[in-house]
Amino acid sequence: MARLRVAVLISGRGSNMKALLEAARDPAYPAEIGLVAANVPGAGGLALARAAGIATAELDHRQYSGRESFERALNSRLIEAGIEFVCLAGFMRLLTPYFVDAWAGRMLNIHPSLLPAFPGLDTHARALDAGVRFAGCTVHFVTGEMDVGPIVAQAAVPVLPGDDAATLGARVLAAEHRLYPGALALVASGRAKVVDGKVRIDGPTAVPLPAFNPTL
Ligand code: GAR
Repeated sequence: MARLRVAVLISGRGSNMKALLEAARDPAYPAEIGLVAANVPGAGGLALARAAGIATAELDHRQYSGRESFERALNSRLIEAGIEFVCLAGFMRLLTPYFVDAWAGRMLNIHPSLLPAFPGLDTHARALDAGVRFAGCTVHFVTGEMDVGPIVAQAAVPVLPGDDAATLGARVLAAEHRLYPGALALVASGRAKVVDGKVRIDGPTAVPLPAFNPTL
């Protein structure tokens, strides 16, 4: 079966992008990474992608007159590269309805909290302030509202005594690296579909997805 041709959008170091690239090295994985694009010049993930032989695009959003003109340029690059699906992986730029509508049902995001708790920034500090016992991460379809959309998969990690935002964030990030490739595989293989605003997953999940606790 043809593999789904995916672009990964990043703004920084790209560790989730790297996890996706590594998963897609397996020819049996149902997606291939056709492009890595960044809105921040010199984003660390671009060098990682180039080293892995993946095509990259660097579009500095500050060089455009507005959000939508940046997104139109980005969209052209995606289309030129034959991209069918988009994964946001630490892409820290709000998207307008133009781009969200263009990729509706064909765009995932990873967020470092158990949504709908703690959307937005500083999730780990806010989770610690709230005194939660579990933190985690979520892969969801992108909608017009930030960090809101049908949830494909979540992973939970414990909050441990003495945690600060950095130690908790590192534990969550390790879970992200397992969750995102698994969630994309569910979507790319056609097993995860949005039905009535929620994600339905068909068939057994061989790996403990869409929900797992990586410490178990
Ligand atoms: C990840 O923790 C990702 O979940 C988060 O940014 C980090 C990017 O790291 N994304 C968001 O907060 C989006 N709301 P990475 O560049 O190493 O993948």
